[in-house]
Amino acid sequence: LMVDKGNHRHFMAKEIYEQPETISHTLSHYVDMGAEKVAIREKLPFDFGDLSRLTISACGTAYYAGAIAKYWFERYARLPVDIDVASEFRYREPPLEKNGLSLFISQSGETADTLAALRYCAGQGQHVASLVNTIESTIARESSVVFPILCGPEIGVASTKALTAQLTALASLAIAAGRARGALSAEQETELVQALTALPSAVSAALGAEAQIVDISKRLSKAKDVLYLGRGPMFPVAMEGALKLKEISYIHAEGYAAGELKHGPIALVDEAMPVIVVAPSDELVDKTLSNMQEVAARGGKIILITDPEGAKTVGHGVADIIEIPHVHSFVAPILATIPVQLLAYHTAVFMGTDVDQPRNLAKSVTVE
Ligand code: G6P
Repeated sequence: LMVDKGNHRHFMAKEIYEQPETISHTLSHYVDMGAEKVAIREKLPFDFGDLSRLTISACGTAYYAGAIAKYWFERYARLPVDIDVASEFRYREPPLEKNGLSLFISQSGETADTLAALRYCAGQGQHVASLVNTIESTIARESSVVFPILCGPEIGVASTKALTAQLTALASLAIAAGRARGALSAEQETELVQALTALPSAVSAALGAEAQIVDISKRLSKAKDVLYLGRGPMFPVAMEGALKLKEISYIHAEGYAAGELKHGPIALVDEAMPVIVVAPSDELVDKTLSNMQEVAARGGKIILITDPEGAKTVGHGVADIIEIPHVHSFVAPILATIPVQLLAYHTAVFMGTDVDQPRNLAKSVTVE
């Protein structure tokens, strides 16, 4: 397989910059652009309308895709969702409800723990679906329905374009489930589909913050610890941001639910620990503002990722604001992954690490 870096210094940079096209490509599979409706082409061996529960298992970045999707399936489809990392799920022997759907998210389709979780669910009589990039993979072969993410080969060990493709597909599936379950009207479906189709150009615009992110990353590369905060679907975005940073820059980072700040991590906040707050304007942004004030009161340096509206309402006194375009809150978590990818990438470049092949990590973990 021949894939080259083009004009980019690393595969990771190339893959970050490909995202407007890869998201469009994923969308063209899941959305009927003319009708502005979701169109699932795969033959479903179950009816979304009859499902009792959705159980998601995955590892690494794919797990955070599922963690974001949980908010969508619950809110837009009123479908109860359980999610766990596959390495925990597989040994818990969880009781599974009749007529439940188990969904496995895996870029490679070969992750050992995810495959073991799949086999457990199949043995329990669950409907088994997978969301993969590699169609010719073990996880795909053992699933009764396979949803492709269609982002092309991902070479960088740290996942980027596969994450946004997974999210695009999951958002489409959540809309399909919402329609089948009577939780969304035809008008609401159109509104959400329009939000999805607006994403590629919003992602291009978000990539435009690169020069500013390089500047911030230079300072981040001097930090020993970095805290990422978010609420709602921005909480998994915060955890993904922390994962990316530690994977490729080797700087210790943690993602936390903003509301949990006072239950622990606030003890660590001082002038030396940057706090990255992922908070585009939404119904929760005021809550996050009070967490930012708690950080600021202890001398913490905030880097705020938000949209123009959020910058106006919660950006006062914040040293660094990384602006992303305003989009529908449904797709905001997808867009918010872009600046966290760029922050991790440029920090790693300043650290001089092997960005595409970070130490001790593998692209696909086929052993336990
Ligand atoms: C490894 C990779 C991650 C990936 C995870 C899950 O840890 O370094 O980038 O998210 O495996 O891989 P999968 O192929 O199942 O999505």
